[in-house]
Amino acid sequence: MKILIAFIVATLAAGAYAQCSCETMKWATCDGNPCSCHLLVGNGTKQVLDCAKLIPKCFLMQTEMYRARKGLSTRTLGGKPVETAFVDNDGIYDPECERDGTFKAKQCNNTETCWCVNSAGVRRTDKGDRDLKCEELVMTYWVRIQLKHKEISGKVDAANLKSAIADAIHKRYVNFNKDLVKNVEYDPKARLLVVDIEQPKGERKSDLTHMAYYMEKDVKVLPLLRSQDPFSPTVGGQKLEFEDILVYYVDEKAPTFTMKNLSGGVIAVIVVVVLAVVAGLLVLFFANRRRGKYNKAQQREMENM
Ligand SMILES: *[C@@H]1O[C@H](CO)[C@@H](O)[C@H](O)[C@H]1NC(C)=O
Repeated sequence: MKILIAFIVATLAAGAYAQCSCETMKWATCDGNPCSCHLLVGNGTKQVLDCAKLIPKCFLMQTEMYRARKGLSTRTLGGKPVETAFVDNDGIYDPECERDGTFKAKQCNNTETCWCVNSAGVRRTDKGDRDLKCEELVMTYWVRIQLKHKEISGKVDAANLKSAIADAIHKRYVNFNKDLVKNVEYDPKARLLVVDIEQPKGERKSDLTHMAYYMEKDVKVLPLLRSQDPFSPTVGGQKLEFEDILVYYVDEKAPTFTMKNLSGGVIAVIVVVVLAVVAGLLVLFFANRRRGKYNKAQQREMENM
């Protein structure tokens, strides 16, 4: 019985660990914990979605119109760069490092619970015990940084966007290699800047993950640099300040979260099956108890006779 309850809890917890994404709407933007997804409709207002269901047709048409107006109809801005991308849902832990400052592939946070990380130190497997094997440190070769900027009075010059952002990153983060800034996209209505930083597969450097961490701290107003100025690039005369950041990690090998591809539907089926089993066991248990009493009563009657 206890084991079954533990199993239900574990199943639900694993569901919560599943990636934050919207199965029923590919254009949805999702983030946060608990996960919340929305679409942009009308003049860029957010429509919050229930991704466990099909999205109402009216919202779909609204967002199609919004995208058509913005010339976005075929492309998706932001979100996972590839299906295997993932975000850090765990937060900070006390890591073990190699002498050169790279992460050890297996991390336990000084506890009996361990997991494997990528070169960004982000968990890429399920959690296990101390015997868990992490063969190698898998490189993160691509990070997608989604930045939301604060309200601005002017306009962002889209033509200069990529070079302006690459320059700002180069300047602030100790000569960071501009060539790794592969793509920058912008959605003025959502105030969303999507920056893809990518190195060739097989490269053994982790500069891009270090840089992403500094940027994350900058945007969360906990700068690690001695200079406490915000990271605020200027694009064509317009200064940008950021209020929100989300980083997606893409590793050279896909992560191996077991529940990752289990959609809400499958999890729901598992939960229903488990509940049915529990209910069945309870019925059996009470039925047995009653039969026991009945047998005793019968025995007593026989003795009296
Ligand atoms: C690591 O341990 C610390 C304190 O023991 C805790 O606050 C933190 O949440 C843990 N992190 C993870 C990822 O388990």
